[in-house]
Amino acid sequence: MVKLKKIGNIKIIICQDKQEVAQEGAKIFAEDTKENPSIVLGLATGETPVGMYQELIRMHKEEGLDFSRVTSFNLDEYVGLSGDHSQSYRYFMDDNLFNHINIDKAKTHVPSGIAEDVSVSCQKYEGDIKAQRGIDLQLLGIGSNGHIAFNEPGSPSESRTREVGLTEKTIKDNARFFENESEVPRKAVTMGIATILEAKKIVLLATGSNKAEVVARAIKSPATTDIPASFLQNHPDCVFVIDQEVANGL
Ligand code: GLP
Repeated sequence: MVKLKKIGNIKIIICQDKQEVAQEGAKIFAEDTKENPSIVLGLATGETPVGMYQELIRMHKEEGLDFSRVTSFNLDEYVGLSGDHSQSYRYFMDDNLFNHINIDKAKTHVPSGIAEDVSVSCQKYEGDIKAQRGIDLQLLGIGSNGHIAFNEPGSPSESRTREVGLTEKTIKDNARFFENESEVPRKAVTMGIATILEAKKIVLLATGSNKAEVVARAIKSPATTDIPASFLQNHPDCVFVIDQEVANGL
């Protein structure tokens, strides 16, 4: 049984463990997709959403959850990695979700990490989102330094899709997915804070004791560029789905 809480604008769903976080997250995405089959989803990578994606795949296979009219936009991509690189976020999305559901791949968008002109490609990404009349439901994780997508501490609230440098902390955190730390790209393309906050509804998933402190600061400290996730306090429809270990920090 989940517990519900609200701190300021932020609704919080407290689950027992990460399996329940995956189920609760998937429930929100499935319900909204059933209600609006042409929904525009914002999707995230990282370890946290994998269980939720597995649950959505199960719902597609066993319950006929239909993604055929869904459009998606991913948050970010590493600069220098093409979509066939096993650590690119395009590869991650194909492997962890898109290849296992009936989404039309032509309607799935991931920022390009290999664009010749990055700023033109970032502007086009923003334009493509606008052409769909914005993102209806945005999924987020949170970095251990409070980043959302690749908006590192210091990112302005009005930032939009752009190229950014990664902090030492993020490079270290993400090294676990690569052979060694030196292989982690130093730059990424990311949706901005303003791009994210324009989504009509936002769901942030966080699990594990290492996220407890940063989630508490994101919810309770005044909104600050030091903790990019704290800008979510300004969003009218934002829900954090967290496990008990994260809730212990609140
Ligand atoms: C990466 C991604 C973020 C993600 C974060 C946390 O840096 N760019 O979108 O939220 O990792 O990842 P994890 O879920 O693996 O802790």
